[in-house]
Amino acid sequence: MRLIFLGPPGSGKGTQATLLAEQEGVPKISTGDILREAVRRRSPLGLQAKAYMDAGELVPDRVMIGLIGQRLREGDCAAGFILDGFPRTLPQAQELEAILEDRGIELDAVVNLDVDHEVLLDRLLTRLVCGECGQVYNSQTDPPPEDQRCMKCGGRIESRTDDDQETLEKRLSVFEKQTRPLKAYYAGHGQLVEIDGGQSIPEVHQAILAALRRLKHLQ
Ligand code: AP5
Repeated sequence: MRLIFLGPPGSGKGTQATLLAEQEGVPKISTGDILREAVRRRSPLGLQAKAYMDAGELVPDRVMIGLIGQRLREGDCAAGFILDGFPRTLPQAQELEAILEDRGIELDAVVNLDVDHEVLLDRLLTRLVCGECGQVYNSQTDPPPEDQRCMKCGGRIESRTDDDQETLEKRLSVFEKQTRPLKAYYAGHGQLVEIDGGQSIPEVHQAILAALRRLKHLQ
């Protein structure tokens, strides 16, 4: 299975990509998670990316393309992968296409999650994450344990530093300008699968599975 998850911040890309990747036994590659881990370790990549992330802007294409090109070469991607948060610009999409073509690999689908603006804001202002392993919680719909320690690794639960109202509005506007056009790009390639991301988490998961089954049937 080779998929891309597309959608605005808070649409549930990470949540759904995690569920599907666990079910299918393929790696979920989240560029946001890779960058946050690099920031946490203060690696050269992290130092370069931090200012962009804090401002709600995109990290430059050349950095992201290099990073993904390298990650897709790793052995665990041989049987498939789910990309969460990449590509986010037209040049990233075109470079990804070239990388995959070079390796004789084809995408199965690009899953686009659409959710109303107000719902996105609400989800992100109530999102909590584990500062150690990145496990996602939500103070309203999926609260962490009372001691605010992660159920998976015991790490401390916190808000993401880019989930404040001002940075969120910036991230959503960057999405509209730079990432939204990818929907038309992948629709043009006949690879787009549209899902209503406003349903509950299990409903969205089932809708994705049904759409992928239909697609397989058509191929
Ligand atoms: P990234 O980490 O990718 O952030 P994002 O795209 O803004 O997406 P989010 O992680 O905020 O949302 P999500 O859609 O994954 O939602 P989630 O499942 O967590 O990127 C961060 C930054 O890194 C970028 O701003 C940029 O600077 C940089 N970056 C990353 N990739 C880049 C690239 N390719 N190029 C350049 N720069 C890049 O869900 C959100 C909340 O809602 C959670 O609390 C969850 O529990 C809840 N929830 C999820 N689904 C549902 C549902 N169906 N119903 C109710 N609640 C739900």
